[in-house]
Order: sequence, then structure tokens, then C-alpha cells
Amino acid sequence: MFVKKNIAIIGSGYVGLVSALCFADMGHNVTAIDKDTDKIAKLNKAISPIYEAGLENLLKKNLANKNISFTTNFAEGLKNKDACFIAVGTPYDEKTQTSNLSYLFSALDDILNNISNDIVIINKSTVPLGTAELIKQKIEDYKTKYKIYLASNPEFLSQGRAVKDFQFPMRIIIGIEDEISEKLLKDIYRPFINESSPIISTNIASAELIKYASNSFLALKVSFINEIAQIATKTGANIEDISYSMGLDERIGDKFLKSGPGYGGSCFPKDTISLAHSAKELSLDLPIIKNINFSNNLTVKNIADKIDLLLQQYNMSDLLVMGAAFKAGTDDIRDSQPLKIISYLQEKRKNINIEIHDPFALKHIAENVNLKKSQDLKKSIKDHKLIIIATEWREYQELSSELFLDKIVIDLRGVLRKLANNKNYFQLGVNF
Ligand code: UDX
Repeated sequence: MFVKKNIAIIGSGYVGLVSALCFADMGHNVTAIDKDTDKIAKLNKAISPIYEAGLENLLKKNLANKNISFTTNFAEGLKNKDACFIAVGTPYDEKTQTSNLSYLFSALDDILNNISNDIVIINKSTVPLGTAELIKQKIEDYKTKYKIYLASNPEFLSQGRAVKDFQFPMRIIIGIEDEISEKLLKDIYRPFINESSPIISTNIASAELIKYASNSFLALKVSFINEIAQIATKTGANIEDISYSMGLDERIGDKFLKSGPGYGGSCFPKDTISLAHSAKELSLDLPIIKNINFSNNLTVKNIADKIDLLLQQYNMSDLLVMGAAFKAGTDDIRDSQPLKIISYLQEKRKNINIEIHDPFALKHIAENVNLKKSQDLKKSIKDHKLIIIATEWREYQELSSELFLDKIVIDLRGVLRKLANNKNYFQLGVNF
């Protein structure tokens, strides 16, 4: 039976906003709190600050039926809430080589300073192993008359299909240490739980590690197939046939075996580094975990070097890169492999003119990075001899072969394999 709960969610980024709207859409009463006044003003006008399929519809619908509200005011947002999720960013910090937890602890301070009843605090942000212990300590040190419980509930939302992933999860993980938190989380998630979407109760340490182990394993699969792709190119094998055939073995599974320019985005790079960092802190020497990200970085370098060689061979210095987002379906350019390849080429060659196209992500590229932004894809293709396809956008797949007749195409995603008979078509893991 559905039990309506009052939920606050701190942070309205990819994770917080999707969670807030999906909970609201199931009938819970949700308040999303964020310090960014512009963002909250937009959300109150039903404008989504991020591009994510299905999100704006949920926003309009749940603002209209009043299941969701947005505020910058913590006291107001936390009033009478049963649960408060923390879903703020934990970006990678180059200096410490682990996640920056300042937003998380600032959110925790804001929660503790503004609660006015007993509450379960649930951490959804991805945090280095052991962070829950620090949170617990902080809660304990904060003397309050209210009872505060702590739980962990990692997210597994893939950008571009985050709403679907939330509504039809492969599993829901709850790290709990008391019955009140477990019951509350089961009530909150009840509408999403079924045979193919089980809820798993475990302790908080396991919940934290499940998240890192899952993402690092997927990142490992991607890195592994990218290494195999390099062998394939050198031996005359075809990486697509290899991925397909490996994937038919159910023990291997057919997902995350697509070779490309390496993994990017806001999770895999950060999570693999963070897991390696935790292992080191635990005095464990774990070569596989330590080297996942190293392999991914080498993929970028390897591809950029090959492009550089081709530029030399053809004596060219102009190229068009199609795709800036770290994958299709999102406008996110965080840790984007296409942009890393570009930076690497720019560092290597003083004389290089790069034009970049992306259907959604160009607005996020700073104007001063020495890149020309393509306003008209067909014209840009016409204007360039050398074209690199770096993101697997569907619109690229649908482009007519005619456009590429006299072009040199380097396809890092197998998007235009219909050009395979052209002598100047180079596909990663096949002939590139
Ligand atoms: C990931 C996880 O999938 C999600 O569960 C987690 O919570 C957040 O991180 P996301 O970063 O949105 O989601 O992207 P994902 O679809 O997992 O892809 C990550 C990267 O791997 C992308 O750069 C993608 O292009 C690359 N990738 C993925 C491949 O190169 N080949 C594949 O077969 C799959």
C-alpha cells in the first residue's frame, strides 16, 4: 500500500532533480532545496536547468498538481519532513585526488541548523568510502533535541535516461543501520519496487562500496574493450564482431562493450580514481583498480597520436570534430573525451584549426578555448576535408553518405559504418 511521505531533497542537479521529480510523480510530497537562486527561480517557472529526456514534462505536471515545490530556504523546505536526501555534487579535487566534500558538509550543516522535527537523513551523493562515519560524527557532535537517523542510498542514474533509470531501477540499494530508516525508505520506494526492481537492505559501508564497485566495473569493461580494440586494429580483426560475440556469452554480458574514445562524464573518471585512492588509504595494493583510469587516459592519448599522424600524412591542419558531449543523449561535457582529444592535439600542434559541432553541448564550451563552434553541420562538413566523429549522436548516424564522399572520416564510435567501403573511412578498432 502506498504511504505518502514528506521528502526534502538538497541539491537540484542531475541526481537531486530527477529523484525529486520521480518521487513527486509517484505521489510523495517533495520540496527541492538548492542555494542557487537562479536555478530555483527557473524551476519554479517549470524550466529545467538541465537537458534530460522526460524531465521537463514531470516538472510541469508536478508543479501543477503541487506535489513538488522549490525553495532556497532550508527552514521552510525541511519543515515537517520525514526524510531529507542529500544529492549535492562531490566533484573530483585534483589536489587531494579524491572527492571534494565541502558541498556535502555544507548541506549537512544547513540541515542540522534548520530541522524542526525528527528526521532521517539519506545520503545520495557519491562519497569516498568511510564518509558516512564522518557524517555520523558530525550529527553526534551536533547536540539537538531531535532524533536524527542516517542512511545511504546510492544512485545509478545514467545521464540521458536518468528518469527511466529512476522509475525502473535495476536495483535499489539502501544502506541502513536502524529499523526506522529501513521502513521509511521502503515506504518511499514502494511504488518502484517489483520483481525486476528489488530493494536491497545492507549496511552503510556496503552501500557506499556497491556504488564504487558497480561504476568501476563498468568503467573496467569499457577500458578492457578499448584495449582489445587496439589489438584488433593491429591484427586485422574487427572490434564490433568481437564485442558482439563476447556479449552473447551471458557470463560476460553484452553491455558496456562498445569501444570508443574512452569513458567520460561526471561519474566514471571520478569514481575509479576515488576507489583507487581509498584502496591506497587502506594500504591495499590493488593493480586492477589502480589502473582502470590510467588505461582510459592512455586511450585518449593513443587516439590523439593517431589523428596527429594522419594530419601529418595528409599535410593538414584543419579538422571538424562532430560531438563534444561525453556521450549521446546529454549536453554534459564534464570529463568529455572528445574535448580531451582536442586539448591534446592543440598542445601537440601549434598550427591546428578545429571546428566543433554538437547538437546540444556547444553552449557549455567556453568561448576562449580556441575552438570554432559549428552553427550549421552540413556546411561545416562541406568546409572540411578531415572529420572526426567523437559522440554517437543519432543525427550523425542519419546523415547522408553523399556528404562524406570526398572526406577523410575518423569514426571513433562506429556511427557511420555505412561508409566502410570508402577508402578514406577509418573506424576505431577496425582500421584505425
Ligand atoms: C554512469 C553509470 O552508468 C550510472 O549508473 C552512474 O550512476 C553514473 O555514471 P553516465 O556517466 O551517465 O552513467 O554514463 P554511462 O552511460 O554509464 O557511460 C559512461 C561513459 O562510458 C561514457 O563516456 C560512454 O561513452 C562510455 N561507454 C559506455 C563506452 O565507451 N562504451 C560502452 O559500451 C558504454
